[in-house]
Amino acid sequence: MSLKNGITNFLDSRYDMETAGGFLKKQLGKRLPPHTGWLHVFGSLSLFLFISQTITGILLLMYYRPTPDEAHKSIQFITAEVHFGWLYRQVHAWGASLMILMVVLHMIRTYFCGAYKKPRELTWVTGVFIFIVTITFGFTGYLLPWNQISFWATTVGTESANKVPYIGGWLRYFIRGGDVVTGETLSRFFVVHVIILPWLLTGLLVVHLFLMRATNLATLEPVDEEKPLEPKYGIPFFPVHVCKESVVVMLMIAVLVTLAVVSPWEIGEPANPLLTPEHIKPEWYFLPSYQLLKYFEGPYGAFMGIIACSVPFALLLFWPFLDRSKYRHPRQRPVAVSVGLIGLVGALILGTLGHFSETNQTFFGQRYHIDHYGRPHRLEGGVQSETVPGADSAHAPSGDAKPSH
Ligand code: HEM
Repeated sequence: MSLKNGITNFLDSRYDMETAGGFLKKQLGKRLPPHTGWLHVFGSLSLFLFISQTITGILLLMYYRPTPDEAHKSIQFITAEVHFGWLYRQVHAWGASLMILMVVLHMIRTYFCGAYKKPRELTWVTGVFIFIVTITFGFTGYLLPWNQISFWATTVGTESANKVPYIGGWLRYFIRGGDVVTGETLSRFFVVHVIILPWLLTGLLVVHLFLMRATNLATLEPVDEEKPLEPKYGIPFFPVHVCKESVVVMLMIAVLVTLAVVSPWEIGEPANPLLTPEHIKPEWYFLPSYQLLKYFEGPYGAFMGIIACSVPFALLLFWPFLDRSKYRHPRQRPVAVSVGLIGLVGALILGTLGHFSETNQTFFGQRYHIDHYGRPHRLEGGVQSETVPGADSAHAPSGDAKPSH
């Protein structure tokens, strides 16, 4: 008896393999809407990156030590001494940003295709929670290398909690495990990053994917008028869509390895709570909120700023219940498409202003200082005289030096 037959017989005599096989066949044989194409791969890419983050994260955990004395040294050890440690650390650090990017692109795709409408409202709602968990992964992971930039970016980031009305002080204390960022904060962020969030995301993804499979992918027809996806209508999930997904996963692996080699994340200087770097900026995905908060000043500024940053998330969460039109095709939804575009362009503008704020830049041969609010001020005397103290060095934390994960 061949090994294959042996295994089949063993399983057949114990379990109802026909039902299990039938289930798998049904899943692979599912039809997808006729417009399913390359824009439908961002969900699978997000899933692939989550798996890659889990594997590289487990490898990092074998040597990482979550204490102020050892965290930075252990990352140095992984990079310099452990076989392929540099590679999986880089893939983890780049994977974090790419995963957030893929989740955002997937959200944009489902939004503009009206896929959040009945009967897929809850698929969207679980998606919004997944998005929040994904960026929280980024925030908590950022502190773990315990370098200057991660330490101070976390100090600034957690300080925003203080702006929440009534409970702000308590919230900041709770997140930090004290009044300031210490080893206590590192322990908390570590537990959240490696235990709480991975399990939370796994649970949310199981529900998300189950709901997605239960309702099938959305066609572009109006709500309650979707044609059933049967053999004559739509495209097969296997092999057509699976092939597309395999191609993009291969490309993603190539992108990850190329970025790891060509543009590695630095380990940076160990955290020094007594030495504040000049300008600290968060990662790109927090830049829009970081910049938005700056425009709210005065007695109620902090409170209004927190409201302004929370409203987009609340809108996202409840959007399937606010958008009552039955159409899905973007051409038939001018209001929803305009709202989406305004949100996207607004986030891009705020992010760009946040990135360039408090730096000196050259536009068309003329040197400018970009102030706190993102307003350009011409520097007299051109490139030679840059009178704004420390402005140029401000560029480093946000983009030039990729601090670490
Ligand atoms: C790690 C994060 C995520 C993973 C792995 C994931 C995975 C997937 C996959 C594989 C699909 C099927 C096809 C496709 O890619 O479009 C899907 C569908 C869907 N996802 Fe996600 N998703 C994630 C996050 C999100 C987010 C943040 C949202 C929105 C807030 C969202 C909303 C939806 C919706 C509405 C559908 C149904 C699409 C349709 O019917 O055409 N997902 N998701």
